[in-house]
Amino acid sequence: MKDYELFTKDTKAFIYGGQTAAVQRMLDFDFMCRKDEPSVVAMITPERSGFELFFWGTREIRIPRITSITQATSRYPTADVMINFASQRSAYDLTMEALNSDSIRTVIVIAEGVPERQERILAATAKEKAKWIIGPATVGGVKAGAFKIGNAAGTMQNIREAKLYRPGSVGFVSVSGGLSNEAYNIIARNTDGLNEGVAIGGDAFPGSTLLDHLLRYEKNPDIKMLVCLGELGGTAEYDIANAVKDGRLTKPLVMWVTGTCAKVLPGQVQFGHAGAKAKAAIETADAKNDALRKAGITVPDSFDDYHEKIKQTYTKLCDEEIITPAEDFTPPNIPVNYKQATAEGLVRKRTNFISTICDESGEVHNYCGVPIDEVIEKNYGIGGVIGLLWFKKDIPVYARQFMEMVLQIIADHGPAVSGAHNTIVAARAGKDLISSLVSGLLTIGPRFGGAVNGAAEHFLYGFRNKLASRDFVSQMKAKNVRIQGIGHRLHTVENPDKRVELMKDFARSHFEKTDLLDYALSVEQVTSQKKNNLILNVDGCIGVLFVDLLRELKFTDTEIDEMIDAGLFNALFVLGRSIGFMGHYFDQRRLQTSLYRHPLDDILYDVPSRPEKVG
Ligand code: ACO
Ligand code: LMR
Repeated sequence: MKDYELFTKDTKAFIYGGQTAAVQRMLDFDFMCRKDEPSVVAMITPERSGFELFFWGTREIRIPRITSITQATSRYPTADVMINFASQRSAYDLTMEALNSDSIRTVIVIAEGVPERQERILAATAKEKAKWIIGPATVGGVKAGAFKIGNAAGTMQNIREAKLYRPGSVGFVSVSGGLSNEAYNIIARNTDGLNEGVAIGGDAFPGSTLLDHLLRYEKNPDIKMLVCLGELGGTAEYDIANAVKDGRLTKPLVMWVTGTCAKVLPGQVQFGHAGAKAKAAIETADAKNDALRKAGITVPDSFDDYHEKIKQTYTKLCDEEIITPAEDFTPPNIPVNYKQATAEGLVRKRTNFISTICDESGEVHNYCGVPIDEVIEKNYGIGGVIGLLWFKKDIPVYARQFMEMVLQIIADHGPAVSGAHNTIVAARAGKDLISSLVSGLLTIGPRFGGAVNGAAEHFLYGFRNKLASRDFVSQMKAKNVRIQGIGHRLHTVENPDKRVELMKDFARSHFEKTDLLDYALSVEQVTSQKKNNLILNVDGCIGVLFVDLLRELKFTDTEIDEMIDAGLFNALFVLGRSIGFMGHYFDQRRLQTSLYRHPLDDILYDVPSRPEKVG
C-alpha cells in the first residue's frame, strides 16, 4: 500500500464493539463494490467470543467475535484498520492499544466527548508512529469502490446515488460526517464522483487534520481535484491556505467554510461540534473563506454556489484532458432485509404456521381476540379460557363452570389408579417432573381415563341410530366392542361414583336438555344388570355431558364429530388429571421414597422349564 493510501480494495478491518448494523452496512458496501470478500474480518467484543451472522448478498456468513485487540491482531495480522466504536470512557486506552500494535495502521475513533488532553496525546502518538487516526467524533469516511468506514455515507440508496461503488477523480475531506454525505452527492452530480472522502470529526484536536488528508490526496495520482468543507472555529483552514501558497498543494481545490450564519446570531455561537465556535475574528467562517480566496483557492460566494464551483473545476480538468471521466456500471443489488421489505410491502410469502386461537404478535397477546388483561378483568376463569382456546367461543358462565367442575373432580383418584401408579414409580426411579408426569399421561387410554372420547362416540352412535339401549348393548357385544364409558374397577351400582352424581346433578340443574346422558343411563340399566360394576363411569359421564353441552351451545353434529376425531373429549381428563399426577410426583419427592420394585409374592411365576423348539 502506498504511503498516501489508508484504504484499498484489499483493506481488512476490525470493528471494536458490537455494532452489527455498521458491520452489515460495510459488508453491503463491499458487496456493491463487487469485492470477493468482506472487509471486516472480526468484531472485537470483550463481553463474548463466538461469531455473528451477517448477509453477504443473499447468503449468510459468520464473522468471528474476538475478545481482545491482542488476540484479534494475532489471528488476523493483515488487518490494518480498526474502527473503534468504544465510548469516550475507553476510546483513548483502546486506540492507544491499537496504535501500539504492530499491524494496525489506521484507527477510526467514533466516540464523542474524548477529553482534549487525551486527543492531543493520541494525535501525537499516531504522528510519532507514522500511523493514522480519523476522529474522534467522526462517522468516518469512504474509499469509493473499495472500503467504507462503519455507517459513513448513509443508506445504500445514498451510496448508490452518489456512485460510491466505484472510484471517481475527487478527493474530499470535511469536518462533519453529515455534510460529507451531502457533499458525496453534490460531487457525484457534478463530477465523475468521489475517489475518497474523510470526515475528520468536529473536535478541537482531531487525530488528523483537513490538511493531512488533502496532502495525502495530493500524492494520489488517481485524485485529480480536491474538495473541502471547513467549519468556523479554530485555524486549520489557514494551514490549507499556506499549503497552497507554498506549493505543497497544487491540485485544483474547491473549498467552503460553513458557519457564515454565525455573524447574524448574537454573541459567540457554539455550533454542534465541540470545535465549532469562533473564539476570535480570525476563526469566523467569513475570515477563513476570505483567506482561502486570497490564497487562490476556489471559494464560492455561498454554499449555494459550492456545486457550481465544483462543476466548473471538474469540467475544466476534463477539457484539459487531465480527467478522463470514470466509467460507470450498474452495481449488484443489495437485497432488502426481509423484515424491512415486509414492512414496506415489497415482499410476501406463504406462512408455514397458522393460528386461529391465539395471537401474540401485538402489544398484548389475546385468546381468540380477547386480550389477556380482559380475560382476567372479566373473570373468564379456566373454563372460559378453555372455551376460547379449545372451542374458539366465548361460552356462557354455566358452561365454564361445568368444565371447571369436571377439572376439579377428575384431578385425582388416588395412587392406586394405573396412571398415578406409573407417575409414582417413575418418581421413585428418580425421574424428573415432566418425565414422571408423562409416564402417567401415557397410561391414559381406552381403559383408563381415555374413554371420554370413545364414550361420546359410542353413545352418539346408539343415540343417532335410535337404537334401543338393549339393542345397542347387544350390537356392541356382538362386535366384541366394550362400550366406552361403561364399567369401573371400584364403583358399582351399590357403590356409586360421587363424581358421576355431582355431574349429573349439575347438568340437570343447568343444562336445558341432557338427551345423551339420559340415553347413556338407559344403557347403564342394561349393562349393570349383567354385572353391577358396569355402570356409567366418570369418563362416560363427562363424554355424554360434553356432547349435551356442545349441542346446547349450537355446535353442529359435524363440529362435534370433528372434535371426537381430534380426541378433544379426552382433553379434560388429561388436563385435570395432570394436576393429580404432579401432586403424586411432588408427594414422592417430599417423602424421598426409594426405587420401587414389585413384591415377588404379588407375581404369579408360570414359566415353562424349557422353551418349545420350533423350526
Ligand atoms: N362394555 C361391555 N362389556 C364390558 C365392559 C364394557 N365397557 N367392561 C367390561 N365388560 C364386560 C367384559 O366384556 C367381561 O364380560 P365377560 O365376563 O362376558 O367376558 C366382564 O364385563 C368383565 O370384564 P373385565 O375387564 O374383567 O371388567 P373390569 O371390571 O375389569 O373392567 C373396565 C373395568 C376396564 C373399566 C372396563 O369396564 C372397561 O374396559 N370399560 C370401558 C373403558 C372405560 O370406560 N374406561 C374408563 C374407566 S373410568 C376411568 O378410567 C376414569
Ligand atoms: C379414575 O378417575 O382414575 C378412576 O375412576 C379410575 C380408577 O381406576 O379408579
